[in-house]
Amino acid sequence: MDFAIARLEAWMRDYYHAVDHDIGSSGVRDLSMAQLRELCGFALSDLDTMVFHDSESYGGSGLRSALAERWTGGDVARMMVTHGSSEAIYLVMHLALEPGDEVVVLDPAYQQLHDIAAGRGCRVTRWALDPAAGFAADLSQLRRLAASRPRMIVVNFPHNPTGTSITPEQQRELVEIAREAGSWLVWDHAFGELTYTADPLPLPRHDRCIAFGTFSKSYGLAGLRVGWCVAPPDLLARMALLRDYIALYVSPVLEFFAEHAVRNADRIVALQREHAAGNRALLLDWAAQRPELVRVAPTDGGVTAFVELLGQPDVERTCRRLAEEHRVLLVPGSCFGDAYRDHVRLGFGGTTAELTAGLERLDHVLRADADLRVPVAGL
Ligand SMILES: Cc1ncc(COP(=O)(O)O)c(C=O)c1O
Repeated sequence: MDFAIARLEAWMRDYYHAVDHDIGSSGVRDLSMAQLRELCGFALSDLDTMVFHDSESYGGSGLRSALAERWTGGDVARMMVTHGSSEAIYLVMHLALEPGDEVVVLDPAYQQLHDIAAGRGCRVTRWALDPAAGFAADLSQLRRLAASRPRMIVVNFPHNPTGTSITPEQQRELVEIAREAGSWLVWDHAFGELTYTADPLPLPRHDRCIAFGTFSKSYGLAGLRVGWCVAPPDLLARMALLRDYIALYVSPVLEFFAEHAVRNADRIVALQREHAAGNRALLLDWAAQRPELVRVAPTDGGVTAFVELLGQPDVERTCRRLAEEHRVLLVPGSCFGDAYRDHVRLGFGGTTAELTAGLERLDHVLRADADLRVPVAGL
């Protein structure tokens, strides 16, 4: 195989379906069909007239124009519907890059954002988010890296796994850096709608910007497997050609639900944001009371925090124990690279009950491992 194993997905394959308390995932609470129907105001009988035709290469016209209204000022020519943003990432990394190209990618980052390019023989340079600075992005460092005029600069704000983001001024500077370097600017907007400390950022204004989005993270529709890509029409046309060999198009059944969701996105996201903000406060409070066990920087957006576990000799083993003995899902930092062996990705988007139960069990295991065991009711 040309590609490194996707460590996060492999971890999820082992544990996601084998736990009761998910405090590792990067999405908000998943909606039920009944909740989605109520939020969007449709009935299942609305599907009765649907005929199982093929959909269109770039996405069915209803969903594609709903997405374009939300993201491109109505310009459908720059919008493509994809199977999650994962498919968009895969297609873009195959078609906007050639072996030997240099690609600058945040570090840490969602692995697919760098390892598909690496697998294709591109030279990947990392733009490090400094843990000592709360993972704040340093644009002057990016400017230095961009001096070599990389083919592509790949970012994701709010960021998985740290939850850090940038300001509108920094976003403008980022665009200027990409423009001056003649680089593609890949903007992964997976968590773009879910912010706490500032309004959501717009998609960058840049002719050579490619943006990805998804229903998986801020909407609670991960199982829908629908995402989107904004890119210049000639790149989308080449993506459609490659997709002819893989999945052809997205199912019209999924597009039906996705179109309702995007047309009611403000209501769905507001509900999820309010819930996630409460959980975020709970997590930060929990961490502040345990400075001897954990260290975490306040997050700007998304529903993950990158938490340093203090004094743990083997964080991956701790995460395995949590899953196997306490049925709690956490993601070891090593899924984001060997440099993050002391960290875990902690997801706070789920129900408050599972966050509370998961944190209680995490506290118990950390204290036991640090030889500070205190009795915890019910364990
Ligand atoms: C930053 C980022 N981008 C893209 C994805 C892909 O998500 P999906 O394929 O569900 O849209 C993920 C999934 O975790 C992610 O964290």
